[in-house]
Amino acid sequence: MITVSVSASENYNVLIGRGILADVGKLCADKLKNTKKILVVSDSNVTPLYTAKVKKSFTEAGFETYTLTFEAGEENKTLETFGNIAESAARLGFCRDDAFAALGGGVTGDITGFAAACYMRGIKYVQIPTTLLAAIDSSVGGKTGVDLPEGKNLVGAFHQPSAVVFDPEVLSTLPEKELRNGLGEGIKYAVLKGGRIKEIIQSGLNPENLEEFCALCVKYKSEIVSRDEKESGVRQLLNLGHTLGHAEEKLSGYKISHGEAIACGIYIMAKASKNKGTLSERAFEEIVGMLEKTNLLRESEIGKEELVAAAATDKKNHADGLNVVTVRDTGDCRIEKMSLKELGEYIK
Ligand SMILES: NC(=O)c1ccc[n+]([C@@H]2O[C@H](COP(=O)([O-])OP(=O)(O)OC[C@H]3O[C@@H](n4cnc5c(N)ncnc54)[C@H](O)[C@@H]3O)[C@@H](O)[C@H]2O)c1
Ligand SMILES: [Zn+2]
Repeated sequence: MITVSVSASENYNVLIGRGILADVGKLCADKLKNTKKILVVSDSNVTPLYTAKVKKSFTEAGFETYTLTFEAGEENKTLETFGNIAESAARLGFCRDDAFAALGGGVTGDITGFAAACYMRGIKYVQIPTTLLAAIDSSVGGKTGVDLPEGKNLVGAFHQPSAVVFDPEVLSTLPEKELRNGLGEGIKYAVLKGGRIKEIIQSGLNPENLEEFCALCVKYKSEIVSRDEKESGVRQLLNLGHTLGHAEEKLSGYKISHGEAIACGIYIMAKASKNKGTLSERAFEEIVGMLEKTNLLRESEIGKEELVAAAATDKKNHADGLNVVTVRDTGDCRIEKMSLKELGEYIK
């Protein structure tokens, strides 16, 4: 088992290891010392696969364990689902010391974390990611929230989990499309950090290097989160590819997945930087190679002006412009302030 420690407003460990799902209760127990009741939240795809195992594990570790299932899909990352979780907890008599467990992908993690942030003004929760995206990104760092009809993630809170337990064996049931979705974030880390993360993507992710890969991604993210939990500075690096990626995702009516869209966003930014002479031909080819290897190399069908116009409504914008992440090399990305006009010219 690999342990990555995260130090933020709450210190916690990310545990990664094959087969550890059966021990999740025991592994979380020392972080949930005063907890009597646990509500395991998962979606309608994940529940039939893993909830019984997780429930058994928490029960054997001495917790009074309850489960709640919501309909799978981003369209259910809503205030309504959030309300159902909070109301169930209230009906079950959950108090301040009790906890939630988010068993699933980023949708489950974001809603459950948000419900934990709000129920009785904040109770503990643990993350048990079951998608690659959740394992390397969304389960760590404490961003929680739900979507509104007006836009994604518009309501939320920062609330760190008490533990993250990831068993890579759960990825065996994950559809190929969802694996690629997670690889989009994987490429993001490879471009931001370079080194071994890049090497693994270049040689191909496989069962032998999967745990190491996830641990390296989480370690990188946790270092950034430790330095800037609330995203006022360096954490913005994690938005590499996201300004244009979010725009593409939205303009496609969410037909293009998040991972595919941000991979495309990274590609556009890398190409722009190469054209400006601030990214070497060699580094550009490396990035293209990684996108090819993961089946994520694609020219956007949406025009650049349209993408920039859609980026104007991104919630991460500031009054004086956008903080755009530019690529200088693999392992060297920078946050640069640009107006929309400058971004349009940059990627032309
Ligand atoms: N909080 C953060 O820092 C952060 C970061 C990145 C993304 N996100 C959020 O994460 C969400 C996307 O997460 P996601 O891609 O994991 O989506 P998801 O949770 O919807 O999972 C994708 C699909 O895979 C299914 N699934 C999950 N695990 C499975 C398994 N082991 N076997 C079979 N099927 C399985 C789910 O039911 C769903 O249909 C978005 O809402 C995004 O905003 C949050
Ligand atoms: Zn993302």
